[in-house]
Amino acid sequence: MEIKVDFWGSLADLSLAAAKHLARLAVDAVEKRGKFSLVLAGGSTPKKLYEILASDFCNEIPWQHVHVFWGDERLVPPENPDSNFKMAQDALLSKVPIPKENIHPMALHPRSPDEAAAIYQEQLERFFGGAEPSFDLVLLGMGEDGHTASLFPGDAALDEREKWVAGVIAPDYRPPPARITLTLPLISQARAVFFLVAGESKRAVVKAILGNSEVASAYPAAYVGASELLCWYLDAAAHG
Ligand code: 6PG
Repeated sequence: MEIKVDFWGSLADLSLAAAKHLARLAVDAVEKRGKFSLVLAGGSTPKKLYEILASDFCNEIPWQHVHVFWGDERLVPPENPDSNFKMAQDALLSKVPIPKENIHPMALHPRSPDEAAAIYQEQLERFFGGAEPSFDLVLLGMGEDGHTASLFPGDAALDEREKWVAGVIAPDYRPPPARITLTLPLISQARAVFFLVAGESKRAVVKAILGNSEVASAYPAAYVGASELLCWYLDAAAHG
């Protein structure tokens, strides 16, 4: 696995660089395998990237061969502002010619976290059709506590090595509570993983992880790998 660190002046700069890289991976995957499986990140940081993909890269990416999934989802209705599906739908998916059947949302109907996780795992098993589950690219954000997707420090989901999707109750400081998340083994089997991280509030965690310091073991993001490339897209504030 190659680890790259790209840092840029601003969120807009890192988002453009990540968009260019994503587009190259998409074209290459479709040429080699006929499709590009992309896992979208939640939170606020990726929104600029999604807007750039929908505008500057609308004609650069073979959307008809792109399948999108989510790394995690809050168990709220899809029209709820907290929904990761809604953010991606509004910023990107409603603006590009991706077939509706290629959009694989996590949980559009209220269910318990464990039930929603089992249902999504079945969807993924159908998509991968018995082959080893390996996404072409997983996009991830990172919280100030080093969480990524909905893998939070100390949560049992961090230790899940069999299931591909886990139900989670997020800590009080990061509502909404009920969520589902891809697990570390599934994320780390991806060909490529991009971390999109911006802001000074995340600098200490970024430095600990990239510096392989002992404290990094407390941060879930430190445990993410990839089969080919792990790339950190940072702004100057997060990189320091
Ligand atoms: C979520 C996200 C989460 C997010 C980080 C960073 O659903 O909350 O998946 O992992 O990426 O919390 O969020 P920001 O990008 O908003 O800082």
